[in-house]
Amino acid sequence: MRVFVLVWLLCLCEVEGRKGWKGPWERYIRAPEDKRRIVPRGIWKTEGDVDVDVEEGTVRIGEGGWVSWEFGENISGRVCLVVEGVEGGLEEVSLAYSESYLFAGPVPDATTDRRMRDLPLRLGVEGPGEVCVGREFVRGAFGYFTLHVPKDGDGDGDGDGDGDGGQGWFWGVGMGGRISGLGRKKKRIAISEVRVSCSSFPSQGDNGREAYTGYFSSSSDLLNKIWYAGAYTLQLGSIDPREGGALIDYNRVVDHNRSPAGSWYSNFTISEGGSVTTDGAKRDRMVWPGDMFIAIPSIAVSTSDWVSVKNALRVIFKNQYFDGRLPYAGPPMGVTENREFSDTYHLHSLLGVFGYVLWSGDLGWLGEIWGRYLFALHHSISIVDDMGLVHVTSTADWLRPGMTGHNLEASALLHTVLSRSATLASWLGRDVPPLWAATQTRLETGFSRLYCPETGLFSDNIGQRSCYPEKGQPYSPVLPQDGNSWLLISGANLAPSGLPFRSPKSPSRAPSPLPHGPPTRRQISQKLRRRWLKHGAPCPEFPNTISPFASGFELLGHVHSGEVDTAVELMLLEWGHLVNGDGFNNGSTLAEGFRIDGDVQYPAYPSRARNSLAHGWASGPTWVLSEWVLGIEVKTPGGGEWEVKGTLTKWLGWVRGGVTLGNGGRVEVKVWRVVSEDEKGVVYEVRAEGDTKGVVAGMKIKGGERVVVLVREGDKGEGIDLGEVKVVGVEEDEWYRNTVVGCGGEEWVFDEDWKEPKMEEREQGVVDWGVMEENFRTEVWEGWEAHVGWVKEASDL
Ligand SMILES: *[C@@H]1O[C@H](CO)[C@@H](O)[C@H](O)[C@H]1NC(C)=O
Ligand SMILES: *[C@@H]1O[C@H](CO)[C@@H](O)[C@H](O)[C@H]1NC(C)=O
Ligand SMILES: *[C@@H]1O[C@H](CO)[C@@H](O)[C@H](O)[C@H]1NC(C)=O
Repeated sequence: MRVFVLVWLLCLCEVEGRKGWKGPWERYIRAPEDKRRIVPRGIWKTEGDVDVDVEEGTVRIGEGGWVSWEFGENISGRVCLVVEGVEGGLEEVSLAYSESYLFAGPVPDATTDRRMRDLPLRLGVEGPGEVCVGREFVRGAFGYFTLHVPKDGDGDGDGDGDGDGGQGWFWGVGMGGRISGLGRKKKRIAISEVRVSCSSFPSQGDNGREAYTGYFSSSSDLLNKIWYAGAYTLQLGSIDPREGGALIDYNRVVDHNRSPAGSWYSNFTISEGGSVTTDGAKRDRMVWPGDMFIAIPSIAVSTSDWVSVKNALRVIFKNQYFDGRLPYAGPPMGVTENREFSDTYHLHSLLGVFGYVLWSGDLGWLGEIWGRYLFALHHSISIVDDMGLVHVTSTADWLRPGMTGHNLEASALLHTVLSRSATLASWLGRDVPPLWAATQTRLETGFSRLYCPETGLFSDNIGQRSCYPEKGQPYSPVLPQDGNSWLLISGANLAPSGLPFRSPKSPSRAPSPLPHGPPTRRQISQKLRRRWLKHGAPCPEFPNTISPFASGFELLGHVHSGEVDTAVELMLLEWGHLVNGDGFNNGSTLAEGFRIDGDVQYPAYPSRARNSLAHGWASGPTWVLSEWVLGIEVKTPGGGEWEVKGTLTKWLGWVRGGVTLGNGGRVEVKVWRVVSEDEKGVVYEVRAEGDTKGVVAGMKIKGGERVVVLVREGDKGEGIDLGEVKVVGVEEDEWYRNTVVGCGGEEWVFDEDWKEPKMEEREQGVVDWGVMEENFRTEVWEGWEAHVGWVKEASDL
C-alpha cells in the first residue's frame, strides 16, 4: 500500500444484532453443526468375517474381523454403539482410534511415548442396546474408528495373540456380559449405529459453526482452507478441564495411576473453570505455554473464546514457583517438586498475557497478576549475563535439541517480551523501569556476538553452534529458524554501531567490509526464504523437521519485516502440505510437525503414529492472515482503537473478512484489485460497528461508519463517495465482481485479468537417518527398541 491522503465517510448507523458472519465462506467451516450427535461418513475398510447389510443398516463382525469407520472432519469425542445382538458368548470388543488413515485399523495411533502404538480399548457388551465408552475415554481427535472382535487368546487386544502377559486393558461400561449359552458358536456382534458425542469447545455451545466471531475469505481456496483448519484445530484443542492429561505417565506423579504402558484415558483435571485451551486435541491435552503466543491471537480472530484462554493462563500463574519462574506446562507439570521449567516457554507465557489482554481488554486480570508477571519477567532479566545474552538454565523448549548456553531464541524472545511489557505497564498506568530498555540494549550487543558475517544470519549460541569453532572443532554453525525469526519479531536494532564482534568472545569488531554487509531485516527474511524446501521451511536447529510452530515464528518474522508476500508464500507452501499432504487430516486440522521429506512423522518421536494432527501451535496463518493481510491491527486493549493496514500481496486478487473485538465491536474489511480504462488499482472498504474507532489509510472511522478508498497503482489513496459505489449483481460469492466504483469520471471494476502467480519449484528435503536415530537415543526413549518388534507383529494384522 502506498502513502495516501484521505478521504470521505458516511454514517450508515446500521445496527446488526447477529453474532456470526453469514456468507458463502461458511462452507469452509469444519466444525460440526451439532456436536452432541456425530455419525461417521461411512465405512472405510473391513477385514475378515464382516457382513455389511446396507438395507438393514447393520454391520455384523465375527471373530477376528474388524471394521473401520471414517468420520471426515468430525473428529473428537466419546463413542457409543447401538448393538443389535451378540452371539457365541461375546463379552467384549476392542476399539481403536486414529487421526490419520495411515494408522487406521485394530491397532490405535499413539498418545503416550511408552509404546509405538496405544493399546486398544476393550468395551464390554451385554447384548442388544446402547453401549458407550466411559467418560474418561474421550478420544480428542480421530478420523477413523475401528471395532475389532478379537479371537480367543488375544488377551491384549492388539491382535498379535501374545496376550501381553494377561495385561487386559479392559475398561468401559457393561463389563462382565452374560454368556449366551451358545458357547461353541462363533463370536459375533451386530451393530446398527456408531455415533460420537463431542465434548470439545465446551464454552462455544453445541453448534460449532455458530461459534465463529470472525471470518476470512479470499481468492485463494487454499488460504481459506488453511485459515479455517487453524480455527477448527483451536476449537478441538479447547476442552473441558476435567477431560485433560493424555500423558498418563506424567499424571502418575499426581494421581498415582497404575495403568499399563500404552494405555490411555483423559480424566486428569488440568485447570479450573469449564473450558481451557490446550496444545492438542489428541495429546497432550495439557496447558502448554508454547502455544500461547500463536494460539491466543488466532483464537481472537476466529472464535473469541476468552474463557478457555484465561483458564489456561491462570493455571500457569497459579503454579508459579517461589523464585518467579513459571512452569514448563500446566498440571500435571509444575505441581510437584519436579519443577519442570523452560526459559523459552516461561517467556511464551508472558507473551500469552499480552495477546490475551490486547484482544480481550481484560485489564482487571492484568492488574491482579501484575506482581506475578513482574516477578517472572525479572527472573529472565536476571539470567542475562556479561555476554549480553540469556544464559539458559534449562534445555527444555519445543522439543528441539541444542537448547543450551547463550541462546539466540531465548534472548530474542526476552527482547520481544520487554517491549510488550512496557506496553502492558502503560495500559495499567505504571512506570516502566529503565532496566527494561537497558536490558534490551545489552541484548542487542549480545545478538551481534552471534552474527555470522559469512552467512548473513545469526547462529544458535556461543560455542559449538556458532560460526567460530574452538580450535580443533569442526565448522558447523547452526543458523536457527526460531532464533532468527524471533530477532525479526523483536524489532531489535540488529547493527548497533561498532558491531558485530570479530567472534562471540572477542571485544573487537568483525573484519570489514562484511561479506553480506551489516545485518538487515530484509536480508534475514530473504535468507530464510532461500532455505525453503518443497514442503516448507526447515529448522536447522531441529534436523529432519519441518515445524509449523517455528514456521509460525517465521511467518511473523516476515510480516514484522514488511515482507507479507513472503509470509503468504510460506503458508501456501508449508500449510498447503499440512492441508493436502498424504496422511494428514485431509484439511480439517493442522499437525504438530512433520518430516523434512513431507512424511507425517514428527521427528520428535520415534513413532510416526504419535504426531498430533490437531495442534494449536500450527495455527499461525489464521492470525497472520487476519492481522497482516486483511490488516486489522488492534491498538488498545479490547479493540477500542485499531488500524487497518493490510497487504493484499501478489498471491491474492481479493480478500474479505471480519473480527469481533473484545469490547463487542466489529470490523469488516474488503480489498480487491480493480481496473479502469487504462489504469489499475486496489479498493479498500472498511465497516465498523459498536463502540470502537479506527484508522484506515490515515483516515478516521468509528462504529456505524463505512469507508471506501481507491488506491491507484503508483498513486495515493482517494476516498470514494459512497453514492459512487454501485452493486450490480446479487451473487454474494462474487461481491468483488459485482461492485463498481466510480471515481474521477471513470468506472473501476474487478481486474479479471489477474492471475495467481506460480510457486517456485523447490527441492524435496532429504532425511538424515543417522541424526534422526541420534535424537531418539535419549533417556525418554530407553527401551524403545523393545517395542519395535511389537509393532512389527501388530502391523501383520
Ligand atoms: C459432520 O457432522 C455434520 C453434522 O453435525 C454433518 O452435517 C456433516 O456431514 C459431517 N461431516 C462429515 C464429513 O461427516
Ligand atoms: C483422506 O485421505 C485419504 C487418503 O487420500 C483417503 O483415503 C480418505 O478417504 C480421506 N478421508 C476423507 C474423510 O476424505
Ligand atoms: C481416570 O480413569 C482411570 C481409568 O478408568 C481410572 O483408573 C482413574 O481412577 C480415573 N481418575 C479419576 C480422577 O477419575
